[in-house]
Amino acid sequence: FPCQVIRNFSIIAHIDHGKSTLADRLLELTGTIPKKALGSNQQVLDKLKVERERGITVKAQTASMTHTVSGRKYLLNLIDTPGHVDFSWEVSRSLAACQGALLLVDATQGVQAQSISVFHIAKERRLKIIPVLNKIDMPASQPERIVAQLQSIFGIDPDEVLQISAKTGQGVDAVLQAIIERIPPPSASVDEPFKALLFDSHYDRYRGVISLVSIHNGVIRKGDKIASSHSRKKYEVQEVGIMHPEELPTTSLQPGQVGYIACNMKESSEAHVGDTLHRVGIPVDPMPGFQPIKAMVYAGIFPVDTNDFVKLEESIRRLTLTDRSVTCQRESSSALGQGCRLGFLGTLHMDVFRQRLEDEYDASIIVTAPTVPYKVVYRNNNTVIVSNPTEFPDLSDASTGVKEVHEPVVKASIIVPEDYLGEMMELCFSHRAEDVGHRFLDSGTTTSTRVILTCTIPLSEIVTDFFDKLKGRSSGYASFDYEDAGYKASDLSKARIKICMVFLLNGKPVDALALIVHRSAQQDVGKMWVKKLHKVIPRQLFEVPIQAAIGKKIIARETLKAVRADVTAGLYGGHYERKMKHLENQKESKRRMKRIGSVDLPQEAFFDILSTK
Ligand code: GTP
Repeated sequence: FPCQVIRNFSIIAHIDHGKSTLADRLLELTGTIPKKALGSNQQVLDKLKVERERGITVKAQTASMTHTVSGRKYLLNLIDTPGHVDFSWEVSRSLAACQGALLLVDATQGVQAQSISVFHIAKERRLKIIPVLNKIDMPASQPERIVAQLQSIFGIDPDEVLQISAKTGQGVDAVLQAIIERIPPPSASVDEPFKALLFDSHYDRYRGVISLVSIHNGVIRKGDKIASSHSRKKYEVQEVGIMHPEELPTTSLQPGQVGYIACNMKESSEAHVGDTLHRVGIPVDPMPGFQPIKAMVYAGIFPVDTNDFVKLEESIRRLTLTDRSVTCQRESSSALGQGCRLGFLGTLHMDVFRQRLEDEYDASIIVTAPTVPYKVVYRNNNTVIVSNPTEFPDLSDASTGVKEVHEPVVKASIIVPEDYLGEMMELCFSHRAEDVGHRFLDSGTTTSTRVILTCTIPLSEIVTDFFDKLKGRSSGYASFDYEDAGYKASDLSKARIKICMVFLLNGKPVDALALIVHRSAQQDVGKMWVKKLHKVIPRQLFEVPIQAAIGKKIIARETLKAVRADVTAGLYGGHYERKMKHLENQKESKRRMKRIGSVDLPQEAFFDILSTK
C-alpha cells in the first residue's frame, strides 16, 4: 500500500455517543469482520470484560481494514479511543498516529463536555475533522438543531456534517467515502531512514511486548535491527503485522502504515509510549513524545488474605503491563499487612483497574479510600508530595514546620440545560469551586437552551461522589469534563484546611482507615464513619470503643457492646456434630481475623467499610 491509499483516523466522541457501534459497522461494511459476528451489544473492539459489562472503552484498540472505491483499494487504519475523562491521556496518544478524526455526536444529546475536549485535542494535533451526527434513527433526534450547535460551537460548515445511524448502518457508507476523500494521506517516504512512533503496547505471554507503531518513514521487516531513541536499547524484529482486527502478520510495514512490531522486548517498561524507533546505526531526530502521565488519585490495595500478597503483587505487575498509566509502590499497613499503593488517572480508572484485578486475576482485595497527592511545603522550603493519609502532617502542631499545603486543582466544564444552571452552580460552590463562569451554547431555539459552566475546583472534591451528585441533581442531563490545572495553596488559616482523621479501635489506631478531611467537615465525617464501623465490626467478648480522632482529640465515638463467648451456647439439645462444625467454622474465621487493639476484626469488615460509599 503506497501512502496515497492509506488513511489513519480515530473516532472521537463523548461517552455513549456510539463510537464502538460505528467502529463495528465500519469493520462489517469493509468485510473485516463478518456481519453480526457478536451479539448486538457486544462490540468487537471493546475487548475487556469490564468494558463489555460497563459499556465503556478503556484501552484504545487499533484495527486495519481495506475498502475499494472506483477500483482503487484503500487501507484504512482505525484507532479507537476511550471516552471518559479519566482516559484523555489515551485519547491524545491515539490521535498522534492519525491524520483525521470522525467527531461523532449523538443527535439526541448534542454536543457534550467531552465532545468539546476531544475536539480541541484533535484541533491541536491539526487533524482533519469529519463531523458525524449519530443515532438519527431515534425519534428524539434533532439533527437540524445539533448541526446548528456544531456550527456555533466549533465553526463547522453545516454542509460537511454527515448524518448516520451506527445502529442500523444508515449513512455509514458515506462515512467511508468521507474518510477517503477528506482525510489526507500520511506524508511519509520510503527513501528516508526508518522512523516509527511507538504509541501503544501490550504484553503477550509468549512473545513479550507487542508495540503498536505508526511508520513515518522507511520500511520494516522481520530480521531488521532497530533501536529505541529513548533507551538506546537494540532489538531484532521477530514479527511485523497489522491489526485486522486481530494480529495478522505481514511481510513488511510500509511508510504511513499503522501496525505492530514484536521484537523480543522482555519488560513492558522498555516500550516507552511516545518513543521514536530507528534502524540500528541510522539515528533520526526523535519525534516529540507525550507528556508523562500524572497520577491524580491514589489508593492502597491489599489482599484479603495476607498470605496472598506475592500473588497479588504479581497480578498487579502483569496488569500494569497492559495499563501503563497506573503507578505502583509497595506499602505496608499494621492493619492490613503488605500491599501496594497505586496511582490512577481518576476514580473510574481506579474502579476499572480493581475490577480487572478481580476478573482477570481472581484476586480478593481491599481498596482503601482514594486520596489526591498533596504538596506539603516546609518552612525550610523542603517540598514533599503526600499521597497517603497516614503521612499527612498534623497541621495543628506548629512544631511540624509546615509552611503551606498545596492541593491539586482542575479546570472543570459542565454542560447542562439552562434550567439546571442554578443547581449546578450551587453544587460547584459547595465543593469549593472558584472562577465560576458560564456561557450559552445555543440560543434562539424554542426548546431549552444549554449552558457550559466552567470553574476551577480542587481535585479532592471531585474524586468521591461529585459525579454522582452532578448526575443526580441535573436529572442525568449534565456532562462533565476536567483537565489538570496544577496546584493551589490551601488557606491554612481557615476552618477549611485539611487534616488527617484516624479511627481507633479500643484505643489503637487503624492505619488503613485514615482519611484526609476538611477541618470544617470533621464532625460529620467522623460521626458517619464511626457509625459505619459500628455496623460492620462484630461484637467482641468485651466492650469496644470505636473513636474518630484528629491528632489527640477524639471527635466522635460509638461503643460496641460485649457479646457472650460460646457460639455453641444456643445449640443445646445436644447435637455433638453440629457443635463441632460450629467450632470449626469459628476457627476458620479466626484465621482471617486481624487483631487490632485486642479487637478481632475480620478482613471482610474492611472490605465492607471501604466498599460502601
Ligand atoms: P464508550 O466506548 O463507552 O465511550 O461508548 P461508545 O461511544 O463506544 O458508545 P457505544 O457504541 O457503546 O454506544 C452506546 C449506546 O448507544 C449503545 O447502547 C448502542 O447500542 C447505542 N447506539 C449507538 N449508535 C446508535 C444509533 O445509531 N442508533 C441508536 N438507536 N442507538 C445507537
